Amino acid sequence: MKPLIVANWKMNPLKRKDAEVLFRRVYKGVMNVNNADVVICPSFVHLPILGALARATSVRIGAQDFFWENAGPFTGEVSAGMLQNCGATFVIIGHSERRLYLGETDTMVNKKVRMAVGSGLMPVICVGARMRGREAPKIIARQLRAALAGVVPARAQNIAIAYEPIWAIGTGDPETPEGAVNVRAHIKKILVSLFGVQKGGVIRVLYGGSVTAENAGSFTGSHGAGLDGLLVGGASLKSKEFADIVRAILR
Ligand code: PGA
Repeated sequence: MKPLIVANWKMNPLKRKDAEVLFRRVYKGVMNVNNADVVICPSFVHLPILGALARATSVRIGAQDFFWENAGPFTGEVSAGMLQNCGATFVIIGHSERRLYLGETDTMVNKKVRMAVGSGLMPVICVGARMRGREAPKIIARQLRAALAGVVPARAQNIAIAYEPIWAIGTGDPETPEGAVNVRAHIKKILVSLFGVQKGGVIRVLYGGSVTAENAGSFTGSHGAGLDGLLVGGASLKSKEFADIVRAILR
């Protein structure tokens, strides 16, 4: 399975020019990498320019969110088709910051997942508990089952799951590789129960939360814990560090 590395730029950078420069630098750092899928998710306003720049490269573009309808009276929202017209092929869904600040629920996440798979955008579905402890696997199972309700097995290979424990996001306190691999096994079990061994088994499960160039290789790659990729926030805004992360997981 090709590893998937997703850069979540969140609400950064401020200027379009800076987004362009960052994209060019990231591309320079990863241009010789062809055994991994590298995806950059900028803000909506930088998507058109980055989509155009990425067209001639191996880097793919994703959005950080979208809406579950095609068109209509949905003030402030952006559709899957609009994203695709800008060159996006991926979309992050259900990030904990959206669940926390925008009140995104499991039901809303599910509508977005179904719209994404129906329109050919690959969703990167984020799951993870607020706290460490015995409740965490139950919370993850609930989020996962809710997100995937109504998705048919035939579409399952067009999905990726990101395990992002909320306590690890932006804190400098990442999950341990052993912890992440246990959660991956838990998630895989649920995926297989929903979609069968063949279809569920090919879904990539990423880790996200305080990933750095230093710890990336411990989660993925031949010496790592066996995760299928990474979702990178803060460190993806530093082009050299992000390129080092991509290289670390290919070692
Ligand atoms: P972080 O963010 O790498 O800055 O912890 C990860 C994420 O929120 O996707």
